[in-house]
Amino acid sequence: MKAGVFDSGVGGLSVLKSLINAKLFEEIIYYGDTARVPYGVKDKQTIIQFSLQALEFFAPHHIDILIVACNTVSAYALKEMQKHTKIPIVGVIEPGVLAVQKKVADTDSEILIIATRATISSGEYETRLRKIGFWNLKSLATGLFVPIVEEGLFEGEVLESAFRYYFGELGAAPKAIILGCTHFPLIAPALDAYFKHQSILIHSGEAIVEYLENVMHLTSRYPLKSLQFFASDNVAQLTKTANLWLNTSI
Ligand code: DGL
Repeated sequence: MKAGVFDSGVGGLSVLKSLINAKLFEEIIYYGDTARVPYGVKDKQTIIQFSLQALEFFAPHHIDILIVACNTVSAYALKEMQKHTKIPIVGVIEPGVLAVQKKVADTDSEILIIATRATISSGEYETRLRKIGFWNLKSLATGLFVPIVEEGLFEGEVLESAFRYYFGELGAAPKAIILGCTHFPLIAPALDAYFKHQSILIHSGEAIVEYLENVMHLTSRYPLKSLQFFASDNVAQLTKTANLWLNTSI
């Protein structure tokens, strides 16, 4: 089975890593729209337009399934993309919500959603979480983490000061934090340490693997035969980050 994995940039590599570990696909094609990242500060119409163009990118590659490894695209463009192709397209928001339901037993628990401005404005996580009974929700647009991750700053002073900027006013650590942007798992160890290891971190990559196995019933295990990286700009940099990220044990 051949999967396409799409993100605006390097963030989807966090999802790719989970997919590779789960051995669900024989061939994977990763496409990052690095020329136009970040998507999270753009309008809905622009995000839809870029996402449909990504679909065109994948057309000659004959993939069996497309994994939208980007919360921003999942929030705004998933339905539109699904209208334009017959192949299954899976986003990360529904899997993320199901992961909260599975990992957090008490629906009164405080859930913090951190994501790009676009994902937060879409209200997708909040709406879906409220439907299953979670009400104690806090949403924060933390878009600065995207360029920080694109820059490879997975720890250190710049990241720490962004943590203080965004989280300085928060009270106690929330029960769970939805990493509502696929760039964020790359800074998850630092984030986890900032919250003193007290919050459950919900990761789009792990969530989508569970979803593919339990909801889409993809259970076969394949050795990965081919992994190819494409980017709309500077594929060398993307490949370098991929090698670094996929080989780390973070
Ligand atoms: N990785 C993307 C997400 O999950 C967004 C980053 C961006 O392009 O702003 O939302």
